[in-house]
Amino acid sequence: MVPVSRPDQPDVPLILPRLEGPALSMRAFRGDDVDAIREAGRDRLVPLITTVPEDADQEQALAFIRRQHDRLRRRAGYSFAIADADDVAIGQIGLWLRDERHGRASIGYWLRPSARGRGLAAAALAVLCDWACTLPQLNRLELYVEPWNEASWRTAERAGFVREGLMRSWQIVDGTPRDMYMYSLLTATQR
Ligand SMILES: CC(C)(COP(=O)(O)OP(=O)(O)OC[C@H]1O[C@@H](n2cnc3c(N)ncnc32)[C@H](O)[C@@H]1OP(=O)(O)O)[C@@H](O)C(=O)NCCC(=O)NCCS
Repeated sequence: MVPVSRPDQPDVPLILPRLEGPALSMRAFRGDDVDAIREAGRDRLVPLITTVPEDADQEQALAFIRRQHDRLRRRAGYSFAIADADDVAIGQIGLWLRDERHGRASIGYWLRPSARGRGLAAAALAVLCDWACTLPQLNRLELYVEPWNEASWRTAERAGFVREGLMRSWQIVDGTPRDMYMYSLLTATQR
């Protein structure tokens, strides 16, 4: 059975399913995923746009993992570790439910630098979207990407997202308001 979010049951934690894709899976973060988080914490961008701590030590990486589990308890959204064929974590992808009451969810993702350049983010995004489109309360999935981040917006387009426009000064990144492309995918087109 597909676990569904129930906006009418605010005290019931979300249930994170395990999702399978070609040569990857998406699952809950585990304690042995710290290497992936620490590697991502050495990336220039990831600590600026996520809660991955810059140059995270072991304890900070474990705290990041605990926060991901807490997102389910607080019904903030579904935070998946992306894992390779050996079940080693290579990144994160999240489906965030702040605007669930409007039928919208937003998506964010990163790969550890050593896993980039092989189309794995696009594969993970496609699997996430296939599952998200089965959630009856969602009509629209959104992504926001800075124009310079071509690897990210190409990843979105490969998974079927459509660019709707440029949101000017949409988000503060590193202390500066940044323009973002708004991408969307309508769940009805996938059902
Ligand atoms: C965004 C991210 C997940 C993409 O994963 P990736 O493995 O680097 O992406 P890929 O190498 O598969 O590239 C995806 C596409 O972008 C293209 N691309 C990659 N780097 C590029 C670059 N510097 N300039 C132009 N195109 C680029 C690839 O050719 C590929 O195109 P295709 O789909 O037409 O074949 C990864 O770069 C990352 O984690 N970045 C840091 C965090 C981040 O930016 N998250 C997204 C925030 S919106």
